[in-house]
Amino acid sequence: MLLQIAVYVICLQIHIRSKGKMKEWYKKRQKDHFYREAKKNNLISRAYYKIKEINEKHKLIKNNQIILDIGCSPGGWLQYISQKYTNSKLIGIDILDLKIPKSKNIDFLKIDLNNFNEISKYFKEKKLIFDNIISDIAPNTSGIQLVDQANSFQLCEACTLFIDKFLKQKGNFLIKNFQGEDTNILFENIKKKFEKVIYIKPKASEKTSKEIYILAFFKK
Ligand SMILES: C[S@@+](CC[C@H](N)C(=O)[O-])C[C@H]1O[C@@H](n2cnc3c(N)ncnc32)[C@H](O)[C@@H]1O
Repeated sequence: MLLQIAVYVICLQIHIRSKGKMKEWYKKRQKDHFYREAKKNNLISRAYYKIKEINEKHKLIKNNQIILDIGCSPGGWLQYISQKYTNSKLIGIDILDLKIPKSKNIDFLKIDLNNFNEISKYFKEKKLIFDNIISDIAPNTSGIQLVDQANSFQLCEACTLFIDKFLKQKGNFLIKNFQGEDTNILFENIKKKFEKVIYIKPKASEKTSKEIYILAFFKK
């Protein structure tokens, strides 16, 4: 009985603390500049500003390109690219639904990225080879940093599988990773395949967040 009460009290404390954290997160979000801008401009997510900033600085995307966005939902990146580059063709992949209106230049595959063979079959059937592969993919977070970083690394590794067969020569690759011990390994692996690779942290990426982007130019 005593043990049951102790477990109940601990669970209650965790619940109250996580509720407090949720409140804190919500308050912070309301103050966040990019969140407010996204709301004001009727954008689906503040992530829109990350790709906008990266693209404006590094001139990643051009019109008439075919672009693969892995982990694309709710659709902020697709929204930015499809509106700015109306002649681009975009393929988005995610396990969750898109939340942006249908657009003639966006095809969406609701599938787990780890189904490499199935996705490859689709790309081959449609004869798709990409000018850019971009990914803002993120695992469901547990709050345990080591676990979240390991899951992020696994997702990034799975994304890199698409480089060899489906990215054009001289094509670019952009990926988000939760920074940890494995980030350098990922960076070095990507570096082998490209002429130039850099780390970037856009302003729209929260300073306290562990996320970092790896941007690779010109596939060898
Ligand atoms: C930060 S969100 C991407 C936001 C997006 N760039 C935007 O602008 O709206 C990360 C996405 O990765 C997706 N994701 C996580 N694991 C995945 C997997 N195994 N396969 C496909 N998508 C995955 C999540 O469902 C989530 O929608």
